[in-house]
Amino acid sequence: MGHSTRLTARQGDLTAQEVDAIVNAANEQLQHGGGVAAAIVRAGGASIQEESNAWVSENGPVRPGEAALTGAGALSARWVIHVVGPRHAQGQDNKGRLAEAVTAALDAAAAAGASSVAMPAISTGIFGYPPDEAVPVIVAAARRWADEHPDELQEVRFVGYDETMTDRFRLALD
Ligand code: APR
Repeated sequence: MGHSTRLTARQGDLTAQEVDAIVNAANEQLQHGGGVAAAIVRAGGASIQEESNAWVSENGPVRPGEAALTGAGALSARWVIHVVGPRHAQGQDNKGRLAEAVTAALDAAAAAGASSVAMPAISTGIFGYPPDEAVPVIVAAARRWADEHPDELQEVRFVGYDETMTDRFRLALD
């Protein structure tokens, strides 16, 4: 009791992280065709796409603020937590939607019994959210979640694919 969650930043490949759960920046249909989603299936194997298809068959598309849990195949992680960030656009609550995706991922991680989670820069690739705007939102949402759930997770690790993204995470963590 009473230990707080460590929020950390690391440069590297999300799929190689030795954590209990990795977060996927998915689409509603869990069709993992590009970006970090495709990298996860490439590294973890076809079971991740198969379990994703089964999840959508049973539950329908993943909604905003919802998370889908699958196994992680051959990855070191035990679970993949699929959430859908916003496609960045004018006239919608981009920040709210992004924060909601982060919160849904951490709720799902805690519910699964994970103690460490690695998360990419959700929405900053194909979904077009400017990274300098997205990263502080992601970090603030995780910090708020950790403050509200002090005993649930040991580590939330933000993973930048390159140094520039990792520096954004470091800056937001300071
Ligand atoms: N490790 C860490 N980060 C990665 C990796 C990786 N192996 N591959 C890509 N990234 C980074 C990208 O550089 C980007 O900053 O993940 C971030 C998110 O990019 P996307 O994967 O494009 O995710 P998003 O913008 O949320 O778009 C989601 O893309 O792949 C599809 O199925 C997915 O349709 C959905 C959409």
